Amino acid sequence: MVKILLTGGAGYIGSHTYLALVQAGFDVVIFDNFSNAKEDVPLRLQDLCGHTVDVVKGDVLDRRDIADVFNAHDIDGVVHFAAKKAVGESVEQPLDYIHTNVGGLLNLLAAMDDAGVRRIVFSSSATVYGDTDVQPIPEDHPRAYTSPYAYTKIAGEQILEQLSDDWAVGILRYFNPVGAHQSAMIGEDAEDIPNNLMPYIAKVATGQLEELSVFGDDYATPDGTGVRDYIHVEDLADGHVLSMKSLLETNQSHTVNLGTGEGSSVLDVVGAYAEACGQDLKYKIAPRRDGDVAVLTARPDKAKQELGFEAKRSLSDMCKSSWAWVSGQRRNVK
Ligand code: UFG
Repeated sequence: MVKILLTGGAGYIGSHTYLALVQAGFDVVIFDNFSNAKEDVPLRLQDLCGHTVDVVKGDVLDRRDIADVFNAHDIDGVVHFAAKKAVGESVEQPLDYIHTNVGGLLNLLAAMDDAGVRRIVFSSSATVYGDTDVQPIPEDHPRAYTSPYAYTKIAGEQILEQLSDDWAVGILRYFNPVGAHQSAMIGEDAEDIPNNLMPYIAKVATGQLEELSVFGDDYATPDGTGVRDYIHVEDLADGHVLSMKSLLETNQSHTVNLGTGEGSSVLDVVGAYAEACGQDLKYKIAPRRDGDVAVLTARPDKAKQELGFEAKRSLSDMCKSSWAWVSGQRRNVK
């Protein structure tokens, strides 16, 4: 059985990808330091997939931790999620972001090289495109960073591009991942006051937060609010399976956007969520947020051509699954 290592595999996107890989017939090992994942995620994954989940608690900043995983397991490929991901925090702690995201990647690559494992899928982000009017964005658009977080993603891509021909690398540029697993057993564990839109709306829906602030209604968009390309986390997880399969089958590297190609405004999301949870959601118009762009949407064709990837789930599916998760409607989908 082909064995895949998921660094950061207990996190939001990692845990969904774990399930998608298991379903596709892979053997999967999770490596996570649980700095941004709940300790019971492996147990929930175990309930869902019906077998023991291989978990190693360790840190990508600790070379020995990583080397130990490759000594203990016969790994064929790696999906590297383990990284810090908050844009605002990266501005406060740039060195920490560079240390974790770039240093962690370098440690991992060194351990992979020593173990002779040279297939890696890398979590990148639409943030590498910077502030651009070109929408939807094709992959050959120049990269530019607007935050230390974005810098670490560009640096990661560039490091991977320097590797020799015996490496096969999948660079996946995520747009806005939202939603939760259909079982509502795993999902995003949001901060007390979330920075991102859907987790914030979810907390308004559950009554934990009073009202949403809509950051700007004077953008050049149909309703004046910011437009983004939201992608269901289960679709995103499937993208990782296709990326890894492609690396294993072809040994060719690829860089692709993972989005739907469709834009939704903040008010579209509020409306779809209100429908999903069956209640009106309170919001007010607030000033624009620093650093936000009007529109950010993916050109999805390359992922379709090169990997056969196509996002299937709608904005309504994203909101319904998020609501089921935050309101505790657990379902057994075994
Ligand atoms: N928004 C609000 N109110 C909120 C939160 C967000 O109106 O309380 C709006 C934003 O202004 C934006 C949209 O909702 O128009 C989406 O905002 P998010 O914070 O959910 O997502 P972003 O598009 O800003 O950021 C995401 C990822 C980043 C990544 C970035 C660019 O969270 O990691 O996309 O790729 F860097």
